[in-house]
Amino acid sequence: MTEPAIERVLFTEDQIDARIREVAAGISAKYTGRELKLIGVLKGSIFFLTALARHITVPVKIDLLAISSFGKGAPGVVRIAKDLDDTIEGEDVLLVEDIVDTGLTTRYLLQTLSSRRPRSLGLCTLLDRTIRRLIQVQVDFRCFEIPDRFVVGFGLDYKQLYRNLTYIAVLKRDN
Ligand code: PRP
Repeated sequence: MTEPAIERVLFTEDQIDARIREVAAGISAKYTGRELKLIGVLKGSIFFLTALARHITVPVKIDLLAISSFGKGAPGVVRIAKDLDDTIEGEDVLLVEDIVDTGLTTRYLLQTLSSRRPRSLGLCTLLDRTIRRLIQVQVDFRCFEIPDRFVVGFGLDYKQLYRNLTYIAVLKRDN
């Protein structure tokens, strides 16, 4: 059963699970013999972060940060609202995002994290909407490329709702 506000399902729960397992295998291979710190960005990425972490086979640490933006008038101008609990100096770090759109948020986060001198810093995203990209960011791991439509589910919200959908879907335009 899909919600009435949903236009169409893009990725089912099974498709998401299968793809996350594949990406987790790629991550496990890349970081073999090392510990990996996953950094999630609240709130959207927590569903993806926990699903991904369960399938990674190298030892994993988790930390979270929250950002707040200055609104639509200032795209990409963000500040850290809740910082990491621990330092990342000398660690292998993978930033885990639910979606990369313009790339502005991601660039800010990568620059900020990079200044803390991790051993390595990578980016893993559940969804990539490259058609909206304004600046280049290197995506090391991604699960799905998506079209230029508003999507919800598996962490992604519309007015804070729909994050708990087990699938990823396009929202109807009249919402
Ligand atoms: C999303 C996502 C990224 C950002 C990407 O967060 O988690 O942080 O937008 O957009 P960009 O590439 O255009 O900068 P959102 O503001 O939806 O917050 P949420 O995770 O709390 O829903």
